[in-house]
Amino acid sequence: MTLNLDEARKRLILALDVPGLDDARVLLDKIQGKVGLVKVGLELFTACGPAAVAAVRERGIDVFLDLKLHDIPATVAGAVRSALALDVAMLTVHTGGSTAMLEQAAAVAADKIKLLGVTLLTSMGEDDLAPVCLFGKPSEIVAARAALAAKCGLGGIVCSPKEVRLVRDAVGPNVSIITPGIRPAGAAMGDQKRAATPASAIGDGSDYLVVGRPIRGAENPAAAADAIVEEIAVALQNK
Ligand code: C5P
Repeated sequence: MTLNLDEARKRLILALDVPGLDDARVLLDKIQGKVGLVKVGLELFTACGPAAVAAVRERGIDVFLDLKLHDIPATVAGAVRSALALDVAMLTVHTGGSTAMLEQAAAVAADKIKLLGVTLLTSMGEDDLAPVCLFGKPSEIVAARAALAAKCGLGGIVCSPKEVRLVRDAVGPNVSIITPGIRPAGAAMGDQKRAATPASAIGDGSDYLVVGRPIRGAENPAAAADAIVEEIAVALQNK
């Protein structure tokens, strides 16, 4: 059976973690046609704002705007409305907000933006919870917040590859799961402590993989992206 590389490529999201538009454009030119979406995060958006999104959209690439919105319901709903005008495909909100915040954000996003919930940042370990008055195990918080996000109408959850099965049980089959913390076998871990390979994340049920440094830092980013797409395609075929 031949691999469905086009389907696999749709699932690969490049994290455009660069400080400015010049760097962004250089990288975008290198990966044109090689990834499904590009994630614009806080670093680039704070520096360049909507121009960062436009630089991706003008190349015909879909944007995942990763702002992890967390504020009063009216303010978050307003920010989602502003994102509609930017023509982004995916946008993150923090599930630690409130039920009202999530519901109102989801109502504005409707079917125009896939609204993703961030449950508990993977940089937070068990010891980090009590100082911010969070009690329980990280896995319990992740599962409860993922279930709440699904109930409030969000279209996806961002989580660590190690949490995919837990989140899938909490949200059911119709909510997308997006996982950063991906490292192809042999790649440098950087600051990712609980990384998984593309094959294992897809095998566990992840729908989209966010990959930054393994592509950005490669000598040939296009070839690095192609290798990950092939690994995703094999994993999809084996499911
Ligand atoms: O370079 P690397 O592949 O580690 O990049 C991962 C991307 O995913 C970064 O943009 C990072 O901010 C983001 N991310 C993460 N872990 C989370 C949430 C987001 O690594 N829990």
